[in-house]
Amino acid sequence: MHPSSLDQHTTRIDRRRPIIIITCFFILFIFIIGTAIPAVDAFCDSWRPKHINLHLQQPRTFGAKSSNPKLFIASHYQSLTKKMTLTSTEMKMSDIDNTNCIDSSTLTQIKAGFIGCGTIASSIATALATPPHSTHLAQHAGLSLHSISVTKRSESKSSKLKQSFPDIVTIYDSASDVVHNSNVVFLCVLPQQVEKVLDELKKANVWRKEEHTLVSLVATSNVEELILQSNLPRSRVYKMICLPSIAKREGCALLQRAPSSAPIALPSQSPTDDSRNNNSANDKNEQHTFIDNTDANNSLNEGNDNNNNIDIKAMLMALGGCVECRNDTIMNTMMITSCMMGPLYGVMRANRDWLVKNGVTPEDASYFVGRSYLSMVQDAERNCQDPKRFDDLIEEQTPGGLNEQSLRNLEKQKVFESYDRTMDAILSRLQGTSDGSLPS
Ligand SMILES: *[C@@H]1O[C@H](CO)[C@@H](O)[C@H](O)[C@H]1NC(C)=O
Ligand SMILES: *[C@@H]1O[C@H](CO)[C@@H](O)[C@H](O)[C@H]1NC(C)=O
Ligand SMILES: *[C@@H]1O[C@H](CO)[C@@H](O)[C@H](O)[C@H]1NC(C)=O
Repeated sequence: MHPSSLDQHTTRIDRRRPIIIITCFFILFIFIIGTAIPAVDAFCDSWRPKHINLHLQQPRTFGAKSSNPKLFIASHYQSLTKKMTLTSTEMKMSDIDNTNCIDSSTLTQIKAGFIGCGTIASSIATALATPPHSTHLAQHAGLSLHSISVTKRSESKSSKLKQSFPDIVTIYDSASDVVHNSNVVFLCVLPQQVEKVLDELKKANVWRKEEHTLVSLVATSNVEELILQSNLPRSRVYKMICLPSIAKREGCALLQRAPSSAPIALPSQSPTDDSRNNNSANDKNEQHTFIDNTDANNSLNEGNDNNNNIDIKAMLMALGGCVECRNDTIMNTMMITSCMMGPLYGVMRANRDWLVKNGVTPEDASYFVGRSYLSMVQDAERNCQDPKRFDDLIEEQTPGGLNEQSLRNLEKQKVFESYDRTMDAILSRLQGTSDGSLPS
């Protein structure tokens, strides 16, 4: 490392040291109060959880703003380096067992159901059922896991899940049974199976408006269509995207719900109108005009008078992070970040190859590149809810130093314009307007 960048690095560590020391003392203090003095234990129900919550949530809750994709980008990149660790405060706080201080009667029970049990379903189920995660779910989202119901579809995954969590997981033959035994239903089937599954459930009449929440993980799902097909209140239907790393509380999920009021329905057309006497067009209009006011009114009141409503966003924040997207366009755009996994590994591979070409052994080069990039990404993830975080990191680099010059050299060669064009192209492929390739 160049002396000036080393200086820069050391100053940054020096600035953090007092904070770390104070934090450690604070943790020690809480720990002593909480465990060593019985008199305080009695008091702790009312005092400690609140206090700790404040401290614990601080690093992540800001990321909840949908206007801020940085949390998603940074934690995504971090999960790519396969080793996201929590912020130092969070990690130390989570070492302390707080669960016995949480009044479990105030927690809302999740009965999770999975229709289709592939990789993503089993990752979410694992995230919910892994014992150390229960503290996070309780503190961040006021939730506790009651049960997990899965369909048999992909037998190997569901029986593996059953083996891992025998007391929690039940395997059912039919999707209706899963819905019947759940209050949050995750739809994890293939896009071509969605219509059939939802039709079956509609016929079986298993959805209960006052109890069920539907979360679709099908990439092609449309929230408005899910609402029509399930007839659930608008506030209880979501589309979600996540990576398997959610199982380890890593990465960051994307969440989309319908706007609180239904889209403006098209005026219904009179069947006697000759020019419009077209069956397929009428079918479509019927779907749209079907939306009535009941749901819109329900969703307005829901927050106040419905205790069964499970806050999916809070649940996902507790399971690593979540960014809520306004609409499909935003959701698709955000998905492009997960397509930058290949390019990131490409940069790391190029760096390794360059080291090897210059005489470093392949083992040392690979190990060094992996560990170094991990620490850089971890640094970037800290405070990444601040939209200026990455600019600040770049600004911190010593002017005229080696890092600043590397970046400037890449800028001169229009490398970041190439990245932009690449992301545009992949987005257009996702939207179906091109095959995603760029002219060579
Ligand atoms: C019905 O509408 C579709 C699309 O709007 C159109 O392609 C088709 O020709 C119409 N059929 C008749 C019988 O008017
Ligand atoms: C919904 O609320 C509006 C305005 O508050 C009211 O006029 C309407 O009758 C309500 N609809 C239903 C179905 O309750
Ligand atoms: C989605 O939301 C963004 C941001 O609010 C907006 O610019 C865009 O027009 C919306 N797209 C659709 C299809 O509604």
